[in-house]
Amino acid sequence: MSERPPSDDDERDRWERVLSTRTEETFRDFVFEQVRPRKDESVLSVGCGPGFETAALARYVGEGGTITGIDVNEEVLAAARDRCGDLPQASFEQGDIVDLPVADESYDLAIAKQVLYAVSDIEAALNELFRVIAPGGRVAVTAGDRRTHVKHTPTDRMQRADNVYRAEINHSQLGTRLIGRLPEAGFTVEEVTPCAKIQTEIDDQIEQGIGVQRGLLEASDAFDSEAIDAWEQDIRELNETGQFLSCSTSFLYVARKPE
Ligand SMILES: C[S@@+](CC[C@H](N)C(=O)[O-])C[C@H]1O[C@@H](n2cnc3c(N)ncnc32)[C@H](O)[C@@H]1O
Repeated sequence: MSERPPSDDDERDRWERVLSTRTEETFRDFVFEQVRPRKDESVLSVGCGPGFETAALARYVGEGGTITGIDVNEEVLAAARDRCGDLPQASFEQGDIVDLPVADESYDLAIAKQVLYAVSDIEAALNELFRVIAPGGRVAVTAGDRRTHVKHTPTDRMQRADNVYRAEINHSQLGTRLIGRLPEAGFTVEEVTPCAKIQTEIDDQIEQGIGVQRGLLEASDAFDSEAIDAWEQDIRELNETGQFLSCSTSFLYVARKPE
């Protein structure tokens, strides 16, 4: 595997490919159908990515609402600006979820969809979301829990690799832990909705997952490089013979800041 850290351009390209898959489009539609941003609301989309999320939100809030997209990565934001150039209600700013460049209590709704997994200080991020929402306003947050990620693993090698994947705990249980962490930040949790994704072939998102899992295997003592290559070959053979299956659940939390 390459040791080169990803450049901003790589990040832009990666998120463009992953977030434009059919699976992600379905997931996005499902999430916003549950959250139902209202017409004319002011929405803060944190970790907005390359603008697919912003364009979907614009359909709900209409031209009377506003959407501010914040992302830590300038190149990803450039993609969002390109994608949303014809949406007058959308604007973008570079910023970090732990130090948002917006005023206190200035939004009706804040969305952090598939972002918290990348943040080391979850408490600081949730406190920031709480700060920027108006009293009575809502936050919508999604996160996964690796224990819900089940796959077709017919070989012993694949099962062992899966155990390594689940044992790594850097935010791997965030999806369930948010039920405690949102109230700690001051929110009242109103709804938790499971969002299942099932994939039966390797797409760009699964390719990214294979890369993540390779990294975990490389860092563990359980697999040498030959075994890792063989494990990846197992996955690709399943795909070629129509036997690939991966299913995971993200948790969507809708929580309110008390009046
Ligand atoms: C998986 S993408 C999700 C994009 C979008 N929310 C969606 O679901 O379509 C994660 C995004 O979060 C951004 N991100 C990662 N860490 C961040 C942070 N600390 N603050 C703000 N954005 C961050 C990344 O640059 C990336 O664009």
